[in-house]
Amino acid sequence: MEFEMVAKTFMGLEEILAQELTALGAKDVVKGCRVVTFTGDKALMYKANFALRTAIRVLKPIKHFEAKSADEVYERVKDIDWQEVIGEGKTFTVDSVVYSDTFSNSRFVTYKVKDAIVDQFRERTGQRPNISVSDPDIRLNVHINGTEATLSLDSSGESLHRRGYRQEAVEAPLNEVLAAGMILMTGWKGETDFIDPMCGSGTLPIEAALIACNIAPGVFRKEYAFEKWADFDQELFDDIYNDDSAEREFTHHIYGYDVDFKAVNIATTNVKAAGLTKYVTISQQDFKDFKGTDEPAIIVTNPPYGERISTQNLLETYKMIGERLKHAFKEGDAWILSYKEECFQQIGLKASVKVPLYNGSLECEYRKYQMFSGKFREFREEGGSVKTDAEKRQMAEKHRSWKKREYEKKQEELLNNEEADILSFNFTSLEKERAKRARQSREFKGSKGSREFNDSGEFKNYRDSKNPREFKGSRDHKGFKGNKGNKGNKKYSSRAERQNDRKNFFNRSNAHNDGFDDSAE
Ligand SMILES: C[S@@+](CC[C@H](N)C(=O)[O-])C[C@H]1O[C@@H](n2cnc3c(N)ncnc32)[C@H](O)[C@@H]1O
Repeated sequence: MEFEMVAKTFMGLEEILAQELTALGAKDVVKGCRVVTFTGDKALMYKANFALRTAIRVLKPIKHFEAKSADEVYERVKDIDWQEVIGEGKTFTVDSVVYSDTFSNSRFVTYKVKDAIVDQFRERTGQRPNISVSDPDIRLNVHINGTEATLSLDSSGESLHRRGYRQEAVEAPLNEVLAAGMILMTGWKGETDFIDPMCGSGTLPIEAALIACNIAPGVFRKEYAFEKWADFDQELFDDIYNDDSAEREFTHHIYGYDVDFKAVNIATTNVKAAGLTKYVTISQQDFKDFKGTDEPAIIVTNPPYGERISTQNLLETYKMIGERLKHAFKEGDAWILSYKEECFQQIGLKASVKVPLYNGSLECEYRKYQMFSGKFREFREEGGSVKTDAEKRQMAEKHRSWKKREYEKKQEELLNNEEADILSFNFTSLEKERAKRARQSREFKGSKGSREFNDSGEFKNYRDSKNPREFKGSRDHKGFKGNKGNKGNKKYSSRAERQNDRKNFFNRSNAHNDGFDDSAE
């Protein structure tokens, strides 16, 4: 059965997300502001959560309605059979996003929706549910634009940018969804080397490696909200999770550098946690000492902006970046995400593409510099162009949509408060819930539940050096078997097993490469 879905993303990444959805087999793909709507079946919903790199969450609308007052919201929500949607004894969360003069306070909408659901349960079952903030079974999302409301089930749960590989972060890490979008926007899919000369915690190198190998970003993830739904199809999801047939061998290399030794350590830890040491090398190096590359490469980076972190002399840093690109990185594309016009000016090079992108609430710009040897005039006289026709069209479209975005930027601030609007309502007593969790923490769920928990109920980290698991997979240690991947080779009985398999494969086959001793962890 096919149904409507909505994937949310950051402003500026809608086109990339639409392309990802089309590639996954989604139908009726329509771009909106920070969202892409589409249709598909349950398998597509699982795949969208598991494989999309530029989605923040995937919603499944269950009701569209018109509401001109809070009372109308209450009545329309109460029309739904909540025993069917939530089920007795389950917990739920309501998350509201409101763009409306009628409903200025999203928290108030949240309360109205919660009241309607709680009242219906009480009237039908006689039970007045206990309310507490906890890990909910069902996450609901209310979106109001003017007087048009949509009530959806949130199939993702925790934001999809939380891939699960990040162990630590520098002060201003890039969001993983934004990092993946930046890389996909360049068109790079692993055809050359990749360099981030200011890599911080390594987000760009790690996302680049996942893209180059076509590894689904969800492979590290502990759970999705849809796994708690009554109609959850464990077998269907296991098949999607265990199918690595689209993964491919990456024959180039990814380099991350940072001047800060602490950042180098953090990035190294994250790369290792993602099982990607075979493909990514992190080293300490000041960009001013960058000597260029022997192999064709692309540079993608976000230098300090001076907004949240600053270098001693920010403008000098950007001047140095321009100088190094011009004199050390003579051929290839360099893409830079930054915030201030005066920073870009210091680079002193002509950008062929300027894309507005938001990094949190910061209105940034993503610029492409096409490097060429010699003088620009000579380059042009020889027929060279820093801007292709497609890029010129792309820039014209970006300019048209910029004014529209000015308005939408204001709405962005509201979205940033989204997390603060989350409330949870518990239908079971707190004691019962605690006892249930304690039970779960002691049980390894084996092939069905597929995850291991430690004594405090958390997911047992698969970087377990004290009890390393043997690599049992059928992969050739010289590399993945290309497009054949795992399909037909090995059936994983659990998610943890595949995660271990992946980690063991990548990190063992490249143990010499990262200078990291497993036994020292
Ligand atoms: C905005 S952060 C990068 C964040 C990174 N993309 C992430 O996801 O964590 C900028 C980084 O540039 C580094 N940096 C500043 N000046 C540098 C220089 N001259 N050479 C190399 N790295 C530098 C800082 O140490 C910082 O980690």
